[in-house]
Amino acid sequence: MRIRKAVIPAAGLGVRFLPATKALPKEMIPIVDTPTIQYIIQEAVDSGIEDILIITGRDKKPIEDHFDKSVALEEHLKEKGKTGELEMLHRISDMAQIFYVRQQEPRGLGHAVYCARRFVGDEPFAVLLGDDIVRSEVPCLKQLMDLYDEVQATVIGVQEVPPADVSKYGILDAEPVRENVYRVRDLVEKPAPEEAPSRLAIMGRYIIEPAVFDILARTKPGAGGEIQLTDALRELAGPGEMYGLVFQGRRYDVGDKLGYLKATVEFALARPDLAGQFRSYLETLVRERRGS
Ligand code: UTP
Repeated sequence: MRIRKAVIPAAGLGVRFLPATKALPKEMIPIVDTPTIQYIIQEAVDSGIEDILIITGRDKKPIEDHFDKSVALEEHLKEKGKTGELEMLHRISDMAQIFYVRQQEPRGLGHAVYCARRFVGDEPFAVLLGDDIVRSEVPCLKQLMDLYDEVQATVIGVQEVPPADVSKYGILDAEPVRENVYRVRDLVEKPAPEEAPSRLAIMGRYIIEPAVFDILARTKPGAGGEIQLTDALRELAGPGEMYGLVFQGRRYDVGDKLGYLKATVEFALARPDLAGQFRSYLETLVRERRGS
């Protein structure tokens, strides 16, 4: 079955990004000048997704407004003859068919995904988390979708992390099928380095079979008192087939402050309108710091 629908959970509290996230959803924090959720939606659209559901929390308005038309702003730009900016706004509001549902309480990622059950119905669907932004030739989600076409089973996007970092991630217990493709036996949440079954870390991209909803309906709160998607996926992997794909591309953990800063610098260096001046600023800064 073809993957047509994507779910983007954006109802977390964003505690790691306080105070910015006190009144602003984490997903609206920009990298250079673009909110992180726009990169995620672009990836979904570039992968061929038709309908997108964003799971929002209490501060959903800025997200909805961002992807909606802004009549007053458009009028203003028209009057000033700023056609470039106007076209940019149109591109954003025409990106995709976006739907919203509210998760009334942040009861965990598993619960957020469960809120998508009516939107998804009985077909496999994609989940993209805004904390992971990937720059790649083939969009990251498209890489997962291509593997799904072949295996017709749940696919989890992973990348290898250094041993010291395994305790920050969900890790696959898996056997290789071919280069970059693994059959999943089990998933282990944040293992100690000496207990980790591999270094294949789950990176916020999934294609999931709809059977997960029946499992999520009865998944009890796990780590942190939250309903964990990983717990439901473990159960799904038990009787069924599940694959891990080591996707190609550079991934940024923008949910983490250092990762966010790295993404900001690298995205700015990749922008033709900023790269030259920004690079010479960074070079001067490094020289000055070395000298001091
Ligand atoms: P995180 O665990 O990163 O939580 O959730 P968070 O609240 O966003 O960030 P911190 O850890 O408090 O700083 C992973 C993804 O799941 C969503 C988040 O919005 C994020 O995209 N999520 C999490 C929900 O939609 N609902 C929840 O109840 C929990």
